[in-house]
Amino acid sequence: MRPKALVTHTLLPEAMDFLAQHVNFEIGAEQDVLPKPDLIRKVRDKEGILSLLTVDIDRDVMDAAPRLKIIANCAAGYDNIDIDHAKQKGILVTNTPGVLTETTADLTWALILAVARKIPQADRFTKSGAFTGWKLDLFLGQEVTGKRLGIIGLGRIGKAVAERATGFKMDVVYYDHRRLSAEEEKAIGASYQPLHELLRTSDIVSVHASMTEGAHHLLSRDKLGLMKREAILINAARGPIVDEEALADALGSGKIWGAGLDVYEREPAVEERLLRLDNVVLLPHVGSATYETRLKMAIMAATNLVAVLRGEQPPNPVF
Ligand code: DGY
Repeated sequence: MRPKALVTHTLLPEAMDFLAQHVNFEIGAEQDVLPKPDLIRKVRDKEGILSLLTVDIDRDVMDAAPRLKIIANCAAGYDNIDIDHAKQKGILVTNTPGVLTETTADLTWALILAVARKIPQADRFTKSGAFTGWKLDLFLGQEVTGKRLGIIGLGRIGKAVAERATGFKMDVVYYDHRRLSAEEEKAIGASYQPLHELLRTSDIVSVHASMTEGAHHLLSRDKLGLMKREAILINAARGPIVDEEALADALGSGKIWGAGLDVYEREPAVEERLLRLDNVVLLPHVGSATYETRLKMAIMAATNLVAVLRGEQPPNPVF
């Protein structure tokens, strides 16, 4: 008998073909998130779950699945899973690190440039037929080249964002709970600063920390208050790292010049006021959204799932 798994959402076709060769799987939901009672009902007889980051896998879900051996998350982050409970129950959890690094760093840069140069606003203006000729003061943005970039969280993605800053001749500073060695800092071209100093002095602040316990509201109202009036905040990591209400206040009152967000505190809900502000660019959590990368993520998650169901070590355990 082949092992049974719940695949919470349909993946890209190549990944579905791979899964079909190895496991008997049930699809949880085609599009939207499964209601919790349905999720609980569907996991009862399953040995594995392949989940998207939108599916909350808490203790109730795990406790409802006595045969569960693996939760293979199709994301680098795994804050949707109660890791402590999984550990206690001996359920393995895997993620998809590495394959989305460059893609997410590219998107971060797209956001930086979109905000600094008012690209979405200028696009809407041109498409509306309002362009009547070159003007000296049309869509004046912020210079990016030569500015100071402050990276919060210098993991894989933070480093890839820093690398790209070289072409923009930027002064790159970073804050991380783990300070790099002097050689590593030199190789990346970034110097360490305490968080408050980074916030006080950076022109562009980009968040790349993981959503660990201590990261909730790392950028609190007080911390956001340290930023320069001309500064730009970018978040393509996890929404709850930034106090979204405080950010809306700061953007609305001009205490911060602009922001670019790919993630939200209560995703998929977005703080109402942000939707109406012109100095913020909002994306629907698409940091890793290229076909190539999403396919790699799906294959990686499927490979982790299949490995454990075959009694092998998965390539990407998170603990
Ligand atoms: C992740 O993988 O954690 C991203 O948020 C989605 O690619």
